[in-house]
Amino acid sequence: MQMFGGFRAFHAAPDAVPSGTGAPALSVRGVSKRYNTGALALTETSIDVAEGEFVSLVGPSGCGKSTMLGLIAGLLAPDTGSIELDGAPVTGPGGSRAMVFQDAALMPWLTVRHNVEYGLRAQGVPRAERRERALEAIAMVRLEHVTDRHPHELSGGMRQRVAIARALVLRPRVLLMDEPFSALDAQTRTVLHEELQRIYLETRPAVVFVTHNLMEAAFLADTVYLMSSGPGRIVRRYSVDVARPREERDPRLTEIRNDMLERMRQEAHDQAAATGRPPLAATAAVAE
Ligand SMILES: Nc1ncnc2c1ncn2[C@@H]1O[C@H](COP(=O)(O)OP(=O)(O)OP(=O)(O)O)[C@@H](O)[C@H]1O
Ligand SMILES: [Mg+2]
Repeated sequence: MQMFGGFRAFHAAPDAVPSGTGAPALSVRGVSKRYNTGALALTETSIDVAEGEFVSLVGPSGCGKSTMLGLIAGLLAPDTGSIELDGAPVTGPGGSRAMVFQDAALMPWLTVRHNVEYGLRAQGVPRAERRERALEAIAMVRLEHVTDRHPHELSGGMRQRVAIARALVLRPRVLLMDEPFSALDAQTRTVLHEELQRIYLETRPAVVFVTHNLMEAAFLADTVYLMSSGPGRIVRRYSVDVARPREERDPRLTEIRNDMLERMRQEAHDQAAATGRPPLAATAAVAE
């Protein structure tokens, strides 16, 4: 373990130590995943997510971040290793895990409230309770004023808020977020960072949040896993010891972000040297 000012960085071992005390809520142990095209998306990858912990996954395009979320969601099965939630193996999708994607993917013919209620209906929750829980989730993302509107009447940021409400209403044990803000302008994104921080502090789900944006990753998370590609794996674990609520300009967050950026740049150069191809401009995408 190394100390860097206000944060700790760990070289990730295949059996990374849980950051919380006691057993992790979600335990991913040594998972590998090869797609039927032959692409090895993840190799021997382990992460632990404690009860109520916010974990960010960052790394270059193609390093297996979405694959990791798909495995945790139970949409994909690992080739090796295991995934356990509260000690029980994950064998398929379930209401204990809810996903928010980059594209809100709302149902255009349904109002905001009915979009949010939809998953509860599938779970057989009675009508009155569905309505009550949907209104509560809509209030959480501060969209009470558009409850009866349709998705095409909303801004991109509002649609992402609906997608978050639709996940929160299920009261998942683990909230999975795959670049939920990457299609938004910088200003809206900053507002939603603050909102997500507030919602997280109010509801405290365990979160696995995927992003290319290093500052976003550090700002939101208790723990950031830095991944690498070829094949996908975890190369570093950062413990973000900054009290909440946080300010994006906190110097310790900048320090963590700079360390991650430096490592990604170095890796891009090493890979370029090894393959003879010029380094990707990819690191520019994470330097926002
Ligand atoms: N359905 C699929 N079939 C075949 N190969 C896939 C599939 N999905 C992903 N891959 C491959 O697996 C690897 C990891 O992909 P993944 O989508 O998990 O990466 P990522 O880190 O989420 O990338 P990005 O940041 O671009 O979203 C890549 O090489 C990708 O081409
Ligand atoms: Mg992805």
